[in-house]
Amino acid sequence: MRNTLVIGNWKMNKTLEEAVELVVRLKEKATDFPPSAEVVLAPPALYLASIAMLEEPWHKLAAQNCSHHDYGAFTGEISAPMLKSMAVDYCIIGHSERRTYFHETDALLAAKVDACLRNGIQPVFCCGEQLKQRKEREHFVTVLNQLQQGLFHLTPAQLSDVVIAYEPVWAIGTGQTASPEEANEMHTFIRQQLSSHFGEVAANDLRILYGGSVSAGNAASLLACSDIDGALVGGASLHVRDFAAIIGAAS
Ligand code: PGA
Repeated sequence: MRNTLVIGNWKMNKTLEEAVELVVRLKEKATDFPPSAEVVLAPPALYLASIAMLEEPWHKLAAQNCSHHDYGAFTGEISAPMLKSMAVDYCIIGHSERRTYFHETDALLAAKVDACLRNGIQPVFCCGEQLKQRKEREHFVTVLNQLQQGLFHLTPAQLSDVVIAYEPVWAIGTGQTASPEEANEMHTFIRQQLSSHFGEVAANDLRILYGGSVSAGNAASLLACSDIDGALVGGASLHVRDFAAIIGAAS
């Protein structure tokens, strides 16, 4: 049985004061969150310690990125062992913004997945096609290629610590979400491909999140789909009422 996972990706937003206020205000709603939903906050790395110190049992923490190195002379970088020492459980890897703006390659992302796994952090591996690729009916082959490059070197046991987030690039931050049918079709495809490579048991246990303009209005219909096991939420996770409503839809 896969429990529903809702991750709020704050990206590069909020001052420390605003970040703490958001957590405190979400806490007021936490008693209404469905017990079956796992809630994860991914604030800017700079705030992970402050938010971890609040010791709120209703959520876990994710980082938005990490280095593929464990330590060393890499100015400005944050490593998976550092995240682990801050009670971080998950790390988003391969978000389309990192692939595009920071030129992160498939090989680098595979190395980041490895860094997470060897340090006890669960990677949330993002994949998804551009609008042009969907229009040209290349979305399945694009996503399959991302999975092959980023994850297919793992063992089935390692895969059990991975979460996948399908985020069609054209739906991120645009208000233009994939329909539940479009999203579920891709999720089913992803699970089938993982099943052929890693075996049915590993694929059935894997959580595949949808991301891309998830809102209080569309969360319930997306999360009701058979192969959608949660949501990676960007913009709406910055607003208490919206994010709480999305978590509420995860029953
Ligand atoms: P969005 O972002 O919900 O604002 O579309 C999702 C994401 O980038 O993870």
